[in-house]
Amino acid sequence: MEEIKESTPEMVKPNNEVVVDIDHISKSFGEKDVLKDINLQLKRGENIVVLGKSGQGKSVTIQCIVGLLTPDSGTVKVFGEDVAQMDDEKLKELRTKVGFLFQSGALYDSMTVRENLEFPLTRILKITDQAELDKRVEEALDGVGLIDAIDKLPSDLSGGMRKRAGLARTMIVRPEIMLYDEPTTGLDPITSREISELILSMQKKNKTSAIIITHDMECAKITADRVVIMNEGTYIAEGTFDELKNSDEELIRSFFNQTT
Ligand SMILES: Nc1ncnc2c1ncn2[C@@H]1O[C@H](COP(=O)(O)OP(=O)(O)OP(=O)(O)O)[C@@H](O)[C@H]1O
Ligand SMILES: [Mg+2]
Repeated sequence: MEEIKESTPEMVKPNNEVVVDIDHISKSFGEKDVLKDINLQLKRGENIVVLGKSGQGKSVTIQCIVGLLTPDSGTVKVFGEDVAQMDDEKLKELRTKVGFLFQSGALYDSMTVRENLEFPLTRILKITDQAELDKRVEEALDGVGLIDAIDKLPSDLSGGMRKRAGLARTMIVRPEIMLYDEPTTGLDPITSREISELILSMQKKNKTSAIIITHDMECAKITADRVVIMNEGTYIAEGTFDELKNSDEELIRSFFNQTT
């Protein structure tokens, strides 16, 4: 895995194109108001980290971006287009540009790691040349340190290895936007750091924009250009990692001490 220096806001110069525009969205499930008037703009080339306690609506927000859930009010636009208005064809196209790593990092259990990674290449990128497939799969697995597991089934992998395989599968099509839902949860500190650096290198190499939901402060520190804090269905603070970590407000600072 390549060495990457820690990101500083100065090193990243995102231009101002908004790639994801979350505009006043609200979402309830039954009596429970999960999202309450959320606004967020992700700019091209920017990494936004979302912090927040469990059950605050972080994953729900991400699912609204890819059209798996629809907000009750407000709009989510990706590359200027309202996701809720997209037909199946448009949604398919959207998902070639937006890669998402589910919290569970789901892999297909009956397929080997190689087959799991070939799947998006053949299905989304329509690559049929076996040499090209092999090259891309090997590169992606090398990037997450999993080349030795190429012919294994998910059931033969540890939790951390499954997570890394899921990450490689999402990254392999080089989507313009990446949504990472707890990419380092359940991993040891060394692997977590490697994954965080991989997320950063995706941003640098491919100018990927990303929203990264995490409880891992080292991941947040390494990857974030900007941090937002979500609490009780709304964003309560926004700033750089250091600004928020050193905030005058006790509540804001408390998010940097959480361990779950
Ligand atoms: N499809 C759904 N149907 C009903 N309720 C849901 C659904 N998805 C999420 N919720 C509820 O919405 C709330 C927010 O869930 P969400 O998964 O977004 O939390 P989170 O901030 O990602 O938490 P965590 O850090 O634990 O992953 C929870 O109370 C959850 O039970
Ligand atoms: Mg979640």
